[in-house]
Amino acid sequence: MSPSATLLLFFGVLALLSLAECKKELTLSERVQQLSDAALKKPVLRFNGDKFKQYVKGTPRNYSMIVMFTALAPSRQCGICRHAHDEFQLVANSWRYSQGYSNKLYFSLVDFDEGPDVFQQLRLNSAPVFMHFPPKGKPKKVDTLDIQRVGFAAENIARWVAERTDIQIRVFRPPNYSGLLALVVLLALVVGLLYLRKNNLDFLYNKTTWALGALAFTFAMTSGQMWNHIRGPPFLQKTQSGNIAYIHGSSQGQFIVETYIVALLNAAVALGMILMVEAANKRDDVRKRRIYAIIGLGLYAFCFSLLLSIFRSKAHGYPYSFLLK
Ligand SMILES: *[C@@H]1O[C@H](CO)[C@@H](O)[C@H](O)[C@H]1NC(C)=O
Repeated sequence: MSPSATLLLFFGVLALLSLAECKKELTLSERVQQLSDAALKKPVLRFNGDKFKQYVKGTPRNYSMIVMFTALAPSRQCGICRHAHDEFQLVANSWRYSQGYSNKLYFSLVDFDEGPDVFQQLRLNSAPVFMHFPPKGKPKKVDTLDIQRVGFAAENIARWVAERTDIQIRVFRPPNYSGLLALVVLLALVVGLLYLRKNNLDFLYNKTTWALGALAFTFAMTSGQMWNHIRGPPFLQKTQSGNIAYIHGSSQGQFIVETYIVALLNAAVALGMILMVEAANKRDDVRKRRIYAIIGLGLYAFCFSLLLSIFRSKAHGYPYSFLLK
């Protein structure tokens, strides 16, 4: 072999080796450096399958990774994914701008359309899912946020992160003036109404007005609107088999749509009761009284048994039912 051929071979091998070097996994300090740089610019890092393997699965690690698995493409029709993404972004931003910000914790996101292989690997068949990948070892069951139970409000995500990583994040929620605005509009309406009817304020002394107001308030409170406000549960949920669940399966949780259903059923029961009372009070028309009584009794019995069966489906082991199973 001539000297130049040997040299050529030598450089060829060198080039191949360096190519192989590029393919090799990055070292820990390289990964931490890249993650830190990226996270400064974008608090939620976006990973595809390769990057997920590199930064989340790559060992060794000395950082915690919180990953949201989601499907944000409109064609996926995941309504709550968008909402969950906003809340997740809020937590990541709060962490990024917090006093204790460090390179111990990163937030990232894998979209189904960008990393379907990751979903397959982790056997995920719903979204959104929040998982914590600890610095050492594999995620355990508690490293997946139980959305069904605690919801995905930013404050709840932060609390779960604190439980898993010992890092406290104070969520900074930009002030929301829509509540205040609604209150002002409502007050203006009430004042306007009073002004328009200033010559005829009889409706203020009307029993029915107040009774309706009191009933509406009672239905709102007994159906769990306050719980929704505090815990921020999902509106409804797609089950694993692709059906839609309107009623939460356990007494530990509820969906927003479920509270509307329960409020409606309670209202129907009340209406049935009122109809029966009306039937008893009417002195004259017998036919009308009979119709009122029958409709009232039907409404009352049917809706009450529906309420009972909803309760039975949530509180497993509750023995009583009526009409329906
Ligand atoms: C993790 O390791 C890298 C490389 O040794 C280091 O630069 C970084 O500070 C470490 N991070 C933590 C949180 O200790």
